Amino acid sequence: MTVTDSSNRVFSGIQPTGDLHLGNYLGALINWVRMQETHECIFCIVDMHAITMTHDPRALAKATRELTAGLIASGIDTDKAVLFHQSAVPMHAQLAWILNCVARVGWLDRMTQFKDKSGKDKEGASVGLYAYPVLQAADILGYKATHVPVGEDQKQHLELARDIAERFNRTFGEELFPLPEPMIQGAATRVMSLRDGTAKMSKSDASEMSRINLADDADTITRKIKKAKTDADALPSEPAGLAGRPEAANLVNIYAALSGSDAPTVLRDFGGQGFGVFKPALADLAVEKLAPIAARFRELKGDRTMLDGILHQGAERANAIAEPILKDAKRAVGFLKA
Ligand code: TRP
Repeated sequence: MTVTDSSNRVFSGIQPTGDLHLGNYLGALINWVRMQETHECIFCIVDMHAITMTHDPRALAKATRELTAGLIASGIDTDKAVLFHQSAVPMHAQLAWILNCVARVGWLDRMTQFKDKSGKDKEGASVGLYAYPVLQAADILGYKATHVPVGEDQKQHLELARDIAERFNRTFGEELFPLPEPMIQGAATRVMSLRDGTAKMSKSDASEMSRINLADDADTITRKIKKAKTDADALPSEPAGLAGRPEAANLVNIYAALSGSDAPTVLRDFGGQGFGVFKPALADLAVEKLAPIAARFRELKGDRTMLDGILHQGAERANAIAEPILKDAKRAVGFLKA
């Protein structure tokens, strides 16, 4: 499947987050950057999903711009991929309403993310949080996307999008929506805290030393890696030897992800070496890969005019794809032309 094959279209969405760090980069952004080389891609910053839980409006606006800067700094090329924010394209809300009337309450009741996110207070959760997966289905179907790169945790939402597409097509008697296929991201790198190998790297960790920020300069990256928590043993020559050594495993995974290889390969090279050798090698690699991104990110972050321009252009391109599909869906359900 390549860009020249117009029967395939990739769509993916990401929630706007500020304070981007290595976990966001290796877990999500880097996959999109790779994907744009081989597929027709539409990438969406899902700000409408971001208001399904209590949120701070100013933080949301800032996070949307910051993620845009992070994506561009990481290598998203708007000549290759469409990049925009969800709320700028009216199709998402409009198609979501139609699909709300296709999806069944019984289907949504089975969604585990709603159960997790609403916690003990189901009655107090927003209706938007409950309908979240239907909006996600609209995101995908509204572009007739055929492939959706997502993490393991989104598999159930993808299944729901397929069920909705299938039921829409059957109910209204036409094959309007292709059934989207999940592309589960190969063991999407889960980057852990540099201070505790059992906790995810997070912007909310009180310790700055626990994470490498996308804006960190070379010296800061090096210092954080050299101070990362480890144990006293040498590295094993195979991944099995990392069992029970979460901090060592995390650094090996980071090395593998940054070098585009895998843990067995890294351990073939470094097995038998101590952290006195491995950490400087990892620091050099991280600086080589991240420092240019960080520099670009710091530069872009403050340029609101430029970022808003990128999103505006992306929204126009996204809208041009979505509008005729939305029209077809409206016609199919019996709405008169506006
Ligand atoms: N729910 C997805 C997540 O939390 C984000 C998302 C929204 C998405 N719409 C999408 C992902 C459409 C893929 C396709 O990761």
